[in-house]
Amino acid sequence: MPKPKAATDATTESPVITVLRQHAEEQFAEELSELDHADAGKQRPPNWRLSPWAVKQYLLGGTLPNGFVITPKYIGNERLIEIAVATLATDRALLLYGLPGTAKSYVSEHLAAAVTGDSTLLVQGTAGTDESTLRYGWNYALLLVQGPSTAAMVSSPMMRAMQDGKVARIEELTRIPAEVQDTLITILSEKTLPVPELNTEVQARKGFNVIATANNRDKGVNELSSALLRRFNTVILPLPATMEEEVTIVEGRVAALGRALELPAEKPALEEIRRVVTIFRELRDGLTTDGKTKLKIPSGTLSTAEAISVMNSGLAMAGYYGDGELRASDIAAGLTGAIVKDPVQDRAVWLEYLQTVVKDRDGWKDLYRACQEVL
Ligand SMILES: Nc1ncnc2c1ncn2[C@@H]1O[C@H](COP(=O)(O)OP(=O)(O)O)[C@@H](O)[C@H]1O
Ligand SMILES: [Mg+2]
Repeated sequence: MPKPKAATDATTESPVITVLRQHAEEQFAEELSELDHADAGKQRPPNWRLSPWAVKQYLLGGTLPNGFVITPKYIGNERLIEIAVATLATDRALLLYGLPGTAKSYVSEHLAAAVTGDSTLLVQGTAGTDESTLRYGWNYALLLVQGPSTAAMVSSPMMRAMQDGKVARIEELTRIPAEVQDTLITILSEKTLPVPELNTEVQARKGFNVIATANNRDKGVNELSSALLRRFNTVILPLPATMEEEVTIVEGRVAALGRALELPAEKPALEEIRRVVTIFRELRDGLTTDGKTKLKIPSGTLSTAEAISVMNSGLAMAGYYGDGELRASDIAAGLTGAIVKDPVQDRAVWLEYLQTVVKDRDGWKDLYRACQEVL
């Protein structure tokens, strides 16, 4: 039996990339270091790795004075990114708010990576998130032997961010029960974490801040108290404004993910991406692009993120079961799955759309047939 390959190639000393998904600061290490050089002379807030100017460049992309190209991460309104970055340099925390799939988590990760070089101080908010996830817990074996001591404490990502002057990320803040959310008030207003058991506290170092994300259309959402909301600056991330913007986002992400997954398929034709994005936008708006036909709206969100998944699973189908070229039959199943979330109502909506729009549209016959087959 062949031996499993080691994670590190000892001959070259370069780590063989085996992780499925690298953290932003690892994946874009070169960009971050180039920005660090280009940044010389610009003022950085205390303990930031880059200046706000460079953080913005990192998120929106651009060309540095030495010709180095920074790839765009977020595509959309520049002003929103400026507000988000500037917020992190103040005593207010940042709340990224919006529909699912509008790049909240993505922006949060890249902001943390650019500002502190560490996007891993992450708390995933769930209905089961308790106070210890935001404060600290105890190693019970040690606690029983020694009683409360610093050694017996188990720090949370929040506590580590405070100690190191870094950015902590909270995903899905509104899923956390309201009384647990309010733990954040002291942390954000006093910048301190009391540890009554040891009669001490952890004071946040300069550079500490919090980026939280929250959906505005979700089940089981706990509204933020106004006391907590006051500690945040809210930035609403919108759905892509134009068709072109959305196509660019999907194109870029599909190419990047295809490379990461090493899919054996060719890059999809722009026309195929455009079709999927058109369908998503029309169904989202309840109106065809020419403004002539009103449509019923399906229950799902049909976000850009889902358009990306549809294209990606299509590429996997084309690569492994087709000839490597993406065709309508490769995306039909993914497309149907993304749109038909409710087996009765959404199916009717989708059938009607296929009959009234897809069937008669120029050059869309192949898609019509492929979708009929999987329904
Ligand atoms: N405006 C945008 N610019 C760049 N990527 C975007 C944009 N909108 C959506 N995406 C892509 O959509 C995907 C999902 O985003 P995610 O951060 O998980 O959404 P959310 O947390 O808002 O639900 C990401 O891969 C991201 O690249
Ligand atoms: Mg998210």
